[in-house]
Amino acid sequence: MKVLIEKSYNKISKKAAYLVKQQINEKPNSVLGLPTGSTPLRMYDELIEMYERGEVDFSKVITFNLDEYYGLPPDHPQSYNYYMWNNFFDHINIKKENVHILDGMTNNIERECLEYETKIKNAGGIDLQILGIGPNGHIGFNEPSETLNDKTHLVTLTEETIEANSRFFDSKEKVPEKALTMGISTILKSDKIIIMASGESKASAIKKTLSGQINTCTPSTLLQTHSNVTVIVDQGAAIYL
Ligand code: F6R
Repeated sequence: MKVLIEKSYNKISKKAAYLVKQQINEKPNSVLGLPTGSTPLRMYDELIEMYERGEVDFSKVITFNLDEYYGLPPDHPQSYNYYMWNNFFDHINIKKENVHILDGMTNNIERECLEYETKIKNAGGIDLQILGIGPNGHIGFNEPSETLNDKTHLVTLTEETIEANSRFFDSKEKVPEKALTMGISTILKSDKIIIMASGESKASAIKKTLSGQINTCTPSTLLQTHSNVTVIVDQGAAIYL
């Protein structure tokens, strides 16, 4: 894995945005896999600024989001659908029909997950997947477990993730207990992967990602099996490297 250690959160955001821009400029109809959460927010701001300066054109770009809370409607302020439109898509020239986000309100989970896999395949697969990482090493919402479901699926969130994500909700009780997520093999099938992390709370997960034993109990270690991963971390997340 290629490791880039940058001075600050702003610098990792700029670096990741630059790599996304480069990807789109090389292949205007790129298929991107996208994360939510705190970490990519500044990267999305950078990409919006690049778009406004005319440096990047999203008109042919296709996106697939990594995950969505189960049971939240798309217009719920904490849904990942809302997050993506509010923080990114509404500010660039992406076509609505090119945006794909799992439907957290589906009444047929199996069909929703299968169709998502098919749509990714039909789009030609993901060219560039951007990831954040949970303090427990989750990627997407693939939580530490003895076994992992490799395809897009419904997952029960761990206490740790519910706790970590409660900062976005009025109370911990309001955090959904389940989510839909791309599976590990869905992620690993991407041509290129960028994983971003900021702050000391991610340092241990980053250390394991790079050199821990490959193990489903730290899902991010499975990235060691991929041949084109770039890890972009700030100094906080790099303290154990
Ligand atoms: C979100 C996602 C999660 C987050 C992770 C880190 O779409 O897939 O794996 O990337 O929970 O979240 P933040 O960036 O909020 O620390």
